[in-house]
Amino acid sequence: MPSHKGGTDAAALPRHVAIIMDGNGRWAGLRGLPRVEGHRAGVRSVRAVVECARELGIPYLTLYAFSVENWGRPEAEVETLMSLLREFLIRELPELVRHRIRLNVIGETWKLPAAVREVLQRILAATESHAEMTLTLGLSYAGRNEIVRAVRKLASEAASGNIQPEKITEEEIALRLDTAGMPDPDLVIRTSGELRISNFLLWQAAYAEFVFTDVLWPDYGKAEFLHALEVYSRRHRRFGLTTEQAEPPSNGG
Ligand code: IPE
Ligand code: IPE
Ligand code: MG
Repeated sequence: MPSHKGGTDAAALPRHVAIIMDGNGRWAGLRGLPRVEGHRAGVRSVRAVVECARELGIPYLTLYAFSVENWGRPEAEVETLMSLLREFLIRELPELVRHRIRLNVIGETWKLPAAVREVLQRILAATESHAEMTLTLGLSYAGRNEIVRAVRKLASEAASGNIQPEKITEEEIALRLDTAGMPDPDLVIRTSGELRISNFLLWQAAYAEFVFTDVLWPDYGKAEFLHALEVYSRRHRRFGLTTEQAEPPSNGG
């Protein structure tokens, strides 16, 4: 079995993979279809990647599904995205239960339409005890927004005397982010040829490896995901140290 430690093991599987699923609109455009058809097709890719991650035993998969900035898109597109999300959640619940996958969300989920929140609450509760894999969806999520909310919590705790400013550490900040309790992503994948982070996991991706692909999200599947994992396994993570420190020569064993 490949090690989950990351870093120096050539066959290492990431413990946490995060994906910026991009290119649905362009995929539809290339086919002369409305953008929403790209979102519909993108759901298949979600299913393929979740299945593959679960089979491999990757314990954390995080998918950027809807950003805070995406609220600014045309109303009809936002509405379709929300109803596709609701349909997806309802349809996938049996699979999540069957494979013992816990659903988790990050972002301002209270801003989602009531119909989505209601299904979300139900599925979060139904999958709460699953420990094999955590599937996290970024919904109305943005990294800066998340950091602002964490800073507000800390500021009010400091103002009420519950934390001393000098006790504010990286760990205390991480504990107040939406991802509290999760490991940082080891690998961030972005599809559709864009080479940017678009406000995703800004704090958590500090030492993540990035794999970019030109493939548009609706064309992304198992083969592409396995390829990204293979690329990741060949990376040398040093975390600021020298090669010798990060990869001590094996002592003949
Ligand atoms: C990603 O595809 C899905 C969301 C951001 C919700 P896009 O809708 O951004 O597709 P492009 O980038 O316009 O092709
Ligand atoms: C990032 O994609 C957000 C999601 C995948 C949910 P966008 O399409 O919104 O990002 P930009 O606008 O190209 O940076
Ligand atoms: Mg896009």
